[in-house]
Parts: sequence; C-alpha cells; structure tokens
Amino acid sequence: MEQEFTDFLVIGSGVAGLRAAIELAPHGKVLVVTKDVPTESSTEYAQGGIAVAMSDEDEVGIHGEDTLKAGDGLCREEAVKVLVEEGPERITELISWGAEFDREGTKLAFTREAAHSKNRILHAHGDSTGRELERVLLNKVRTFGSVKKYPFAFTIDLIVRDGGCLGAYMAKNGKVISLFAKATILATGGAGQLYERTTNPAVATGDGMAIAFRAGAVLEDMEFVQFHPTSLYAEGAPHFLLSEAMRGEGAILRNIHGEPFMKNYHASAELASRDIVSRAIISEMVKTKSSHVYLDLTHLDGDFVRKRFPRINLTCKMYHIDITEDLIPVSPAAHYIMGGIRTDLEGATSIRGLFAAGEVACTGVHGANRLASNSLLEGLVFGARAGIAASRHTPEAHSSLSPAGEVFRESASTAPRFSTSYREGIRSSLRKMMWEKVGIIRCAESLSIARDSLVQWEPEMEGAAFAREEQELKNMLTVSRLITEAAIARRGSVGAHFRSDYPERGGDGKRHFLWEKDTMSVG
Ligand code: SIN
Repeated sequence: MEQEFTDFLVIGSGVAGLRAAIELAPHGKVLVVTKDVPTESSTEYAQGGIAVAMSDEDEVGIHGEDTLKAGDGLCREEAVKVLVEEGPERITELISWGAEFDREGTKLAFTREAAHSKNRILHAHGDSTGRELERVLLNKVRTFGSVKKYPFAFTIDLIVRDGGCLGAYMAKNGKVISLFAKATILATGGAGQLYERTTNPAVATGDGMAIAFRAGAVLEDMEFVQFHPTSLYAEGAPHFLLSEAMRGEGAILRNIHGEPFMKNYHASAELASRDIVSRAIISEMVKTKSSHVYLDLTHLDGDFVRKRFPRINLTCKMYHIDITEDLIPVSPAAHYIMGGIRTDLEGATSIRGLFAAGEVACTGVHGANRLASNSLLEGLVFGARAGIAASRHTPEAHSSLSPAGEVFRESASTAPRFSTSYREGIRSSLRKMMWEKVGIIRCAESLSIARDSLVQWEPEMEGAAFAREEQELKNMLTVSRLITEAAIARRGSVGAHFRSDYPERGGDGKRHFLWEKDTMSVG
C-alpha cells in the first residue's frame, strides 16, 4: 500500500477545517483532505449568518446567557464563555482578511434570529454568509505554501496504534493509501443526510463521527438533532433552507388555510426556539392533514425582501415561487447535530493526536439545542483552537508509523461491491425511517422499530467496498444507530430531543450520554 507523510492532516474544508489549517500552516506541512471539491461543505450553504456580540447594544455576557438558555441546561459553561469571548476577535480578524459583511452605512448590520435577545447576527451578501466565509478562508489558506489540498479523497478509517492517532486510510484515485501525520483534525461536518428531509448538502453523511467511533473515540449528546422549521417544500425542489432571518425580518407562518398559528404555541410566536416552531408546524400539518405550511413575506416591502434574501429569491424563482407575492410552502428538515465527538476546549478528543472541530465535534457549546447562527462562530473559534493545539502536539515515536497498513493490504479495492439500486434502496429506506421514527417527535415504539431495522442493515454494510458511496452508507448506518440508541436512552424531553412518551424533562435532564465502541456505555 502506498504511504504518504505530512505534518498535519485536516479532514474537511468547511469553516472549522480551514480555520485550523491557517493556525497549522506556519508549523509544518498541512494536508487538507476533502471527499468532494473543497467548497462542498455545509459552510458554503449557511445563509442566515454568524452570531457575535459586537453591536453597540450587545455584550458577550448576554450572548452567553442566550446560548446557555437555548442549550436547555446541557451546555458546558466554560465552552460557551470561550465562544462568546473569542468570537469578536475571530470576526475582526476575518474582516481584516477581506470578509465583506453587510453594512448599514459604514456600520456592520446586525439582524435578529430566534431566541436571541439582541440584534447580533452578521450576514453577507444578504443570505450567503457561509459562502463569504468559505471564500475568505480559502483565499487566506492559499497564501501559505505549506498547505496542500487533496480533493476527492475519501477517509475510510483512522490509523490508531496504542491509543494514538497516526493518520488515516484514504481512498484516492481508485487506490487506498495510508496517510501518516503527527496530528489529525477531523472537521468533516454533520449528518443531515441521515434524514429524508434535510437542509444539508449531499456530503453531510456523518463520516467523521462514524470513523472516530470505529477508532474508539468517545461521542456525546447524539440524541440532540436540530430540525430547522422552514425548508422549501415544493414539487421537485430540494429541501432548500429558508433562513430564520426571514422570520427575524417579520415573515409569518400560516397553515394551509392561511391562518397564522404560532401565537397559539408560544408567546415569542415565529421567533420561539426552533424545536418549538418545528413541533408547532408538525402539529398544524397533522391537524390540517397537509405535508406543509406556508411562510408569508407578502406584507413586507418587496424591494427590501429581494435585496435582503437574493439567493433564496433566485432559488424559489426556479420553482416558480415569487417570495414577495406568493406564500412559500415549507416544512421542517434536519439541520444540525449538536452531539458529536467529545472534545475539550482545545479540540482534543479521547484519542491522542486526534482533534475535532465544527459540527463533527461536541465541544458542549450547543448543549441540547443550538442557538441560531452560533455554528459558524463555533467553527471559527474552536477551529483556531484545535489548530493551535494540534500544532503543539508531540507525536508518537516515529518508528511506530511504519508497519501500519496491514488492515487493508489484502483487500484494498475501491470498486463498488453492491449494485447501485441495492445500495440506494437501503439508503432511501434508512432516510425515510430516520425521518419518521427518530425525527422531531420520538417514542419508545418508534425508536425500537428503528433499532430493529438498523440491526438488520448493519451486517450488510460490514463488507462495504472502499468506494465512497458504500463507505458513506456504512457511516450513515453507524451514526443513525448512535442517534437511535441515545434517543432510546434519554427517557425525557430536553432541548431538541422530544419524546411523546416522556414529555417532561425527567431524572436524566442534567446528564450527558457518552458512547464508545467497546462499551456502548452511557456515562
Ligand atoms: C438560518 O439561516 O436559518 C440558519 C442559521 C443557523 O442554522 O444557524
């Protein structure tokens, strides 16, 4: 098997991975590996913005309080403190690298989203905030000769010896290679593709969580999946995100009879937290026997709406919806996973030499429910921290690097093993099942049906070839199982996790559930 050596391996090229690479660049050779093109990440699609306490009326302490409140008692307070205190510095730095956030006159323009008590959401080009971050970070990375990118390289597994991570096995150009590094950072993003309805891009298949789990890392809070209330629900259209900022600017939710309903569910109406709005929408959909509700912006100034949401406007137009004149059909969709690989404040995981940052990680910043627009900020703040910590990591003795690769030597084939229709059959059944049984509203019965199906499918994928599509499906099954087991374990409703059979918080309300391969333990 071919072997390659680098100083630092960064897997994933969204905000967290790129920000980490920038810290690593002065310390050695950095390889940024992605399974697709570098811009194909959740960051690129993030619309609404990036929360930061920088307006005249705001304070980092208030941002911290809002974050803790949204997290419903399960945030790690020290992580929240780091996020809100280091956030302004990371944003100022980003602006100095060329980020163009929208302004009112010469001042930065801050908008409001659900559960924020102040206007603190920065946005760029109206609704293309993530794309602007990706542009600026990629440009910055290009200024370092020490950083090299490997697109279309799929990470199969981590190379772990004696509790230390030595790099990863990759499928690249039809071959499997061993890639050795002094330190490895996982920044592979989330797992929205586990669900039939999701705002996430096709790459979000939970790969980083699955490979870390197989390598023996500890994962945490896997039951907490955030569903965004408003994704486009139109014939033939993807579940394109309709940013919460639209409700922040005054959009109203109506059921299919045209009746506004959010005031019947919560005093904050359209700006209640995402779990409340998503459940209210599901309840209206059930009551009206409909597959969607509507988002209404028709009462707002048309020019303002077009200017404020140019990307959404253009996308909806492709499906013959004029967002200034028509009611937009919407339904909730899986959006973000709060759980992931457990890390400390420096991004260190339970495996030496392995770091994680961004959505794949569980820093504890989001607790049981993420405050809107905190994820890009988390990627910047904790991506930088993980980069700094990885640059200081003292690696394993070099001699232990050489014998690796034996696992794959005999069978390193990247040719698919299953037919496309067979694989796609399992994939779509899995996504439908996760949506229906492990979705917004869960109960013991639905979760047990899900577990039974997963237990049946898992052995099928054990023999998956090292082809991207088959490895992705294997990873999706692993992460689905973790979410399902965690949802079964938590007999109570906290944050984004709602059990209809345990609607109260329950005795476990303050606990975190930890998951590890050897024990599948609950901690
Ligand atoms: C949105 O624009 O509604 C998404 C922002 C986020 O999920 O933080």
